[in-house]
Amino acid sequence: MQGVDDAWLPDGVFRQVGTRRTLIRGAGPLVDTVRREVDRACARFGGRVVPHGDSDLVLELTGEDGSEAFTYERRDGRTTVTASGGAGLLHGFFHVVRLGAAAFEGSSERRSHRSELALRMLDHWDNVAVHPVMGQVERGYAGGSLFWEDGRARGDLERVMAYGRLLASCGINAVAVNNVNVHETEARLLTDRIAEVAAIAGALREYGIRTHLSVSFAAPVVLGGLATADPLDEGVRAWWAEVTGRVYAAIPDFGGYVVKADSEEQPGPFAYGRTHADGANMLAAALEPYGGTVHWRAFVYDHRQDWRDRTTDRARAAYDHFVPLDGQFASNAVLQVKHGPMDFQVREPVSPLIGAMPGTRLAVELQATQEYTGQQRHVCWLGPMWSEVLRFRPDGTPVAELANALVAVSNVGDDRFWTGHPLAQANLYTFGRLAWQPDADPLEILDEWIRLTFGPEPAAGVRAVMEGSWRTYEKYTAPLGVGFMVQPGHHYGPSVDGYEYSPWGTYHFADRDGVGVDRSAATGTGYAAQYAKPWAEVYESPETCPDELLLFFHHVPYGHVLHSGKTVIQHIYDTHFEGVEEAEAARRVWASLVDLVDAERHARVAERFEEQLRSAREWRDQINSYFFRKSGVPDARGRRIP
Ligand code: GCU
Repeated sequence: MQGVDDAWLPDGVFRQVGTRRTLIRGAGPLVDTVRREVDRACARFGGRVVPHGDSDLVLELTGEDGSEAFTYERRDGRTTVTASGGAGLLHGFFHVVRLGAAAFEGSSERRSHRSELALRMLDHWDNVAVHPVMGQVERGYAGGSLFWEDGRARGDLERVMAYGRLLASCGINAVAVNNVNVHETEARLLTDRIAEVAAIAGALREYGIRTHLSVSFAAPVVLGGLATADPLDEGVRAWWAEVTGRVYAAIPDFGGYVVKADSEEQPGPFAYGRTHADGANMLAAALEPYGGTVHWRAFVYDHRQDWRDRTTDRARAAYDHFVPLDGQFASNAVLQVKHGPMDFQVREPVSPLIGAMPGTRLAVELQATQEYTGQQRHVCWLGPMWSEVLRFRPDGTPVAELANALVAVSNVGDDRFWTGHPLAQANLYTFGRLAWQPDADPLEILDEWIRLTFGPEPAAGVRAVMEGSWRTYEKYTAPLGVGFMVQPGHHYGPSVDGYEYSPWGTYHFADRDGVGVDRSAATGTGYAAQYAKPWAEVYESPETCPDELLLFFHHVPYGHVLHSGKTVIQHIYDTHFEGVEEAEAARRVWASLVDLVDAERHARVAERFEEQLRSAREWRDQINSYFFRKSGVPDARGRRIP
């Protein structure tokens, strides 16, 4: 498409398929999509779609059961993909594309591939109307919305279709098209503006992506003119049932609703003395006849806290609110839980809610948009963090097996490179691939993304720039899991005390003697006891708590010695100097790739590196100065701290 980056699907990636003879068997809309893809590749590289007979590649649909699974095998010089559902054939096709030359060499046994998680969704925090404070995309760092322009759905949906193609090629199968904070204009998407959602859904459907909508819990009042939105009121239930029927009339494969209720000013069931299970189940009942699902977010906490009150702990909130409701949610209600207990910080423990509600379906929510991880001006590849979360075993079973769905807040906008920072595309890709196979090695996914996007020449350099970038970012920002320390409001750049005396519940409690939040059961907020064993015990004591989470769980003196052998204060100084040095080194590596990467992409990343370095130095100097001034402890290595 003119002027838009191909991301990880440049033409060259289709060379292998495009030079072969391909036999496609079966019929249906997604088979048509596959056929179009093969035709396009062949038109470019001279191969052919053959109606029968001799072929190098067979893509065969054997039924139509909606399955996303496929089998892959290579035997007697022929590669064969079979699937019993159109979506499976599409995933199988992209599997062949990703393999490149390897798909047409040697032989490999017939193997079946299926996704671990049935739902792999991106939530767009896009507003239809530009919001006066949050702009068009809340926490968006890649320009305006892909879906909405000039106050309505885009007329030309070519770009949306290209997006669906990118998503399908890495395994994503669902998208929520509007912000979880549902403002006035956006509330209407549910009713009189559903045709616009249907148009977007039509474009995404071409690549097997189902559309979901964020809705306002107060819709019966705001849109329906009812006096109440009480989930147990018969009139309210009838209203939702009717409206949902109309949604399905417009979008027969509609995925369902996403709801942020009783959270940061959004309306919810508390206003009527009802529980969140009551609220979710009412919507689940409306969706049930059509096979839809409600994603009910667990991000419920008191954002009007008194900072003087050290007993209230925001980290506890989701668990305290929801665990008592376990077993009460309908089977098509999914509780959507942020991976950490706070809010997408660069380092948090895994939310104790995950694993604590065995009778409730669970979606784990990650944040691809880099709200707290450099806002797509800093390189920060989140694969290792997400992989740690998915592999964490709250109670023996890994998070990936406890979850029914994996969701990420999207990092995409109408930017030419999709994600603002071209290297942030890797987060989108990694999310999709990890959602498909959560135990995959994130570094292999990174290598795959690099190979597809850049080809072989700059691969080693790009990897060097990216593989450690999350830990580098962690080093120069808030230390040892303490979090926040960001500029209030927009959340970019350092402000150590920015949230310290605020109502948001995000404190570090630094004084002249020490820093950190005591969340132990013995002397603190009791948060550590929300975990099952062994974690409740591991986190309870500063002796056993992992270094990287120490200040999340404990308030310790600056002289406290970490497992690494360093004191907390020296760790702060060292990591902040190192973090900036690592970012400087990454920038040098990037500069050296100038002849190996296309000029525009290279220039865009180079420009972002300038800002990353400026910002990283600011972080280093503010954090180091702050803690030097508080503690009076000099740097053991005598470096300059302003
Ligand atoms: C964060 C973010 C908000 C967002 C909220 C949410 O607090 O800053 O912009 O609305 O998360 O996840 O609902």
